[in-house]
Amino acid sequence: MRMLRESTHVRFIARVPVIDIRRQEDLMHLRRLEADSGIFFKLDNASASACRLKLDVTPDRQTHKIGYDGRGIFNELIHLAKMYRAAPKFVVQPVAAIVHYGKVIGYAMERVQGKTLEALSREFVEGLVSRSELDAVLANVGAAFKTLHRRRIGHGDAKASNIMITESNEVVLIDPSQWNFTYAHFGVRQSRLGRDRSRLGDLLRN
Ligand SMILES: Nc1ncnc2c1ncn2[C@@H]1O[C@H](COP(=O)(O)OP(=O)(O)O)[C@@H](O)[C@H]1O
Ligand SMILES: [Mg+2]
Repeated sequence: MRMLRESTHVRFIARVPVIDIRRQEDLMHLRRLEADSGIFFKLDNASASACRLKLDVTPDRQTHKIGYDGRGIFNELIHLAKMYRAAPKFVVQPVAAIVHYGKVIGYAMERVQGKTLEALSREFVEGLVSRSELDAVLANVGAAFKTLHRRRIGHGDAKASNIMITESNEVVLIDPSQWNFTYAHFGVRQSRLGRDRSRLGDLLRN
């Protein structure tokens, strides 16, 4: 991917280049990327206004009213990049951080050609996918998590809608938990790794 001109606040995040959507040049680049079907964009849903920026931003439009702390999506990107480096075969590749006023509001990643495990399970229930095909996929899901866990890295939100399956039944993990201690505010402290382990049995019994 072409290197972008230096951004005002953040130049590079977790070795992922930054697109600052206030810059006409970067914005054009973002739109070119978007037009290319090889890229999938994720903007933080926590900020409706940030999402609207995707469609709305023009270089002269005032966007100062967005008082938004994008720490969640920032953490998600950092962790995704870490997972990708540890297990590139099984994790979606982050392509660019999307930044607005120095805050990460989203990221671009490789578009996975396939469907979620959730969709595949539904097809199984409808009789469109065989037991043996589902079992083969679940074996790959197990292998993907095992590879990550061997490196002491957890995903943290292991569920069927966060696992993509390609046409050749390969597993691509997306959407990791933004935080390591997910339920800290309920007094339950569990790491991404711990949370994966407690969920994986159910997931693989699909
Ligand atoms: N890289 C991708 N390629 C193709 N589809 C994707 C990709 N990332 C996400 N999706 C689709 O979008 C849905 C929502 O994405 P996800 O990252 O899980 O967001 P959320 O945080 O809202 O759950 C996924 O369940 C999947 O269907
Ligand atoms: Mg998800």
